[in-house]
Amino acid sequence: MSNQTTINLEINGQAHTLAVEPRVTLLDALRDHLELTGTKKGCDQGQCGACTVHVDGERVLSCLTLAVQVEGRAVTTIEGLSDPGAELHPVQSAFLEHDAFQCGYCTPGQIMSAVSCIREGHAGSDDEIREYMSGNLCRCGAYPHIVEAVREAAKVMS
Ligand code: FES
Ligand code: FES
Repeated sequence: MSNQTTINLEINGQAHTLAVEPRVTLLDALRDHLELTGTKKGCDQGQCGACTVHVDGERVLSCLTLAVQVEGRAVTTIEGLSDPGAELHPVQSAFLEHDAFQCGYCTPGQIMSAVSCIREGHAGSDDEIREYMSGNLCRCGAYPHIVEAVREAAKVMS
C-alpha cells in the first residue's frame, strides 16, 4: 500500500517536488528519484561517510537523513559544488592534483566533508585534518594524499 507524501526540496539551487514515502532517505531520494548518483551508498548506516552532502551548508550523512527532514532546506551535493562549465571547486582541483582518490567511490563524500572541514576551521594541521576527516572511510588507502589535498585547498580557500 502506498503511503506517499509530497515534499519540496531545494537541491543544488533547484527546486524539486517529489512524491515519496516518508521512510525514503535523502540519499535514496537523490540517487533513485533525482538521478543524482554522485552521492554514494557505502553502508547505509552512518559508518562510512560516502553519502556526505551539505544541508544548509553543514555536512550531514544523507543515509541517516530522511528526505522529509530537509523540506525547504538547501541541499548541496557533489554535482552542485561547482557550476557546470565553471572552474572546479578548489577542493576538487586539489584532489585531482594530489591524486587523492583511486576507485573514486568514497571521493564525493570525502570532498563534501573536506569543504566543510576547511570551512569549520578544522584544517589547521595534518593531525587536525586526519581527525576531522576520520568520518570518511577510504578502502583504497588514499588518506595521505587526501590530507595533502585538504591542506593545499585550505590555503586556497583562506
Ligand atoms: S552510506 Fe551513509 S555513512 Fe555509509
Ligand atoms: S578512492 Fe577508493 S575507497 Fe577511497
